[in-house]
Amino acid sequence: MSSPRHIGVVTAGGDCPGMNAALRAVVRAAVHRHGMRVTGFLDGFAGLVADLSRPLGFDDVAGILTQGGTILGASNRDDPFRVPVDRPDGRGYEDRSDVVLSTLVRHGIDGLLVVGGDGSLTIGRRLESRGVAVVGIPKTIDNDVAGTDVTIGFDSALTVATEAVDRLRTTAASHHRVMVLEVMGRNVGWIALEAGLAGGGDVILIPEIPFRYDAVAAGILDRVRRGRRFSIVVVAEGARCPGDGTVVRQIVEDSPDPVRLGGVCVVLAHALEALVPFEVRHVALGHVQRGGSPTPFDRMLATRFGAAAVAALADGDSGCMVALRGDRIERVSMADVLAKPRRVDPQGERVTVARSIGTIFGDEIAAS
Ligand code: F6P
Repeated sequence: MSSPRHIGVVTAGGDCPGMNAALRAVVRAAVHRHGMRVTGFLDGFAGLVADLSRPLGFDDVAGILTQGGTILGASNRDDPFRVPVDRPDGRGYEDRSDVVLSTLVRHGIDGLLVVGGDGSLTIGRRLESRGVAVVGIPKTIDNDVAGTDVTIGFDSALTVATEAVDRLRTTAASHHRVMVLEVMGRNVGWIALEAGLAGGGDVILIPEIPFRYDAVAAGILDRVRRGRRFSIVVVAEGARCPGDGTVVRQIVEDSPDPVRLGGVCVVLAHALEALVPFEVRHVALGHVQRGGSPTPFDRMLATRFGAAAVAALADGDSGCMVALRGDRIERVSMADVLAKPRRVDPQGERVTVARSIGTIFGDEIAAS
């Protein structure tokens, strides 16, 4: 494939810190290094269906390196292969990918960059199979995209979540309480695991390790025997409560992934209060962890990913995603990485380390 002269870029899925930094790098590398034109589509894939776009040059991305979110807008509801339509016989869905292809042709765009999580990258891959040159840039606070060591946004969310653990510790200690902090992550436990470890959380509950209430309570009571009159519990929103399963906050019908999780901290706090001699308070960190300025790590990662993705298109590459492996930025096949999410390995090094320092995962009653 020849090198594109005019590329499109779309920021899709849930927003996160570092998307703008990636956009800035894309535009600057495309214009400065490769002499390309860049068009940004608005509000995720919705902009490609409705042909809502804006040209992007140096001036348009000035000052956005440190800005959270995305100046293009994002959406985690719009899939051009499944667009909701009202029919006389009720709600239905239509494949409007042809419209996306026409939009790209109309603009003279010969390469598309998708800044997205697994859902958006999967849409990108499907567009690629329809003949569009597509390169993916992985972003999501959840860090669940396989093939890369880390995604844009994770470090920023982790930083906010860790600070939340730190702040809860002082109030938990003063009042001799159990504090339950719920963090995001969808069906994986990366934010909970790493914020729990970085903040010195006493209990970490993640979807990958099924837990029991009695084992969590036993861990807290064991701390009491050692003179610790408070505990911090970090729970991933996707952790499964015994008997109840995952706690669903909302179903967003038109979304490619309609289930919105949330509320596990309430169920957990209620169950624990009956088992431990402390007051139990809960807080869901929610979208606070998805907002704000990206950390230096995310700014760097986004800049490296953005420039590398443009270079991939310039080389005539397509169907790949840029990825961090060790300290190197590499290109990996989207077909290989999007098959299944990157989950925490319950036998992996991080969990092993956590267990070795006494972190409670609620799956076993530790001998004291
Ligand atoms: O995928 C990112 C994420 O923030 C998840 O951690 C969370 O479950 C979901 O998006 C929340 O989605 P929404 O912004 O639609 O509530």
